[in-house]
Formats: sequence, structure tokens, C-alpha cells
Amino acid sequence: MTPVIAFDIYGTLIDTHGVVALLEKFIGSDATKFSEKWREKQLEYSFRRGLMSNYKAFSTCTEASLEYTCKAMQVSLTDDQKQMLLDKYRNLPCFDDVIDVLKSLTRKYRLVAFSNGDSRALDRLLNNVGIDRYFELIISAEEAKTFKPDPVLYHHLLRRVESRPGNAYLVSSNPFDIIGARSVSINAVWVKRHDSMIFDPWEYEPTSIIRTLRELPARLP
Ligand code: 2OP
Repeated sequence: MTPVIAFDIYGTLIDTHGVVALLEKFIGSDATKFSEKWREKQLEYSFRRGLMSNYKAFSTCTEASLEYTCKAMQVSLTDDQKQMLLDKYRNLPCFDDVIDVLKSLTRKYRLVAFSNGDSRALDRLLNNVGIDRYFELIISAEEAKTFKPDPVLYHHLLRRVESRPGNAYLVSSNPFDIIGARSVSINAVWVKRHDSMIFDPWEYEPTSIIRTLRELPARLP
């Protein structure tokens, strides 16, 4: 059976800090800090909605966390500026190691995108950077109305691709996602893009750790 490689999107293939340059224009030197806080709160909102069984699109979490971050950092942005930031979020860039690696993997594996993002946002994002063509499926959390790392979603992935866990690989730079996949016995490759990234000291370990996607082909069967 051809192995299935499921790619996380935000933070793994798509650079969520692609908003920093625009933020710098609006708020100056706090832009990186703002972007990090925004991303953390966005994830927290998705986790909380998952726990509460109160699903709303990931883009709703993105909007609410932008509002929160403005308040928390005492930054006042105009409605137009907020719209420009959200628009940028719908058009983020991909990391520079993505295209060549996806292209080379399609010859040997079944590739799918697997993300907490909503379907429409994912289609647009992946199409914008020209990588939608490499995926057999784009699987959104919206299909199961919950968010990773809810195990429901990883089982949903396995059902959609008709794979057993041992023949599936998740590739993600998000430790919460790696732990979610490992908890249902899916192989999981952690893309540790920066030395400062910390893997949560839980009872799960990634199947392997890479620094850039260019190391991925050597870690697959
Ligand atoms: C994803 O794309 C949120 O990064 C996470 O699923």
C-alpha cells in the first residue's frame, strides 16, 4: 500500500508570521511579539472550542484572537488595518523548502493536506502559493466540526484516506499536532524549524525530527 503523507498547513507549509512585515508598518518593533501572541491565542481558541464542542471556523478564531491581541498589547488598529491583516492571513506565503519537496514526494506517496483551517481558506491559501496540485485531498477540520488535537479528527483522516495508522505519516511543526497523531499511533515527523522550538515533555515522542522539509524524503519508507 502506498504510504499516506498528511501535511499540517499553518506553521508547517505556510508561514503564519508572514504578517509581520505588514504589522511592522502598523505598530513598528512590536510586530513579531504581536504575531506570536496572535498565533498562540488563535490556537488556544481552537483548542477551547474543541473542548467545548462549540465548533466555529478557524477563521473565526483568527479574527477573535486578533481582537484579543490588540487589547492585550494595548495596540489600537483601525478597522481597515485589521481587515488588511486578516486579508494577509488569507494570503500567507509558504516556506521556501515546500515546493521542491512536495513535487519530489508525489512520485512515491499519496499526499494530503490536513489542517484546522476551514475548507475555503485552505483552498485559497494553497492555490495562491501553487501547491494545491500536489494534494490528493485537502482535509479540513470543518469536515468533523472539531479541531486537532481531538483524536476524532485523526481518525477522520484515516477514514478519508482509507489507511491504517502505521501506513500514515503526519508532517507538522506543531508539537500539539505531533502528539495528537502519535496518540492514535500515526507516524509523525516533527519539523523543528528553529532551535528555540520546544517539544512538550509528555509521554509521546515524534517518530522523527527534521530541521527542514528537505530532510523529509530520507525519513520516509
Ligand atoms: C493547522 O494547519 C493549526 O497549524 C494548524 O492545522
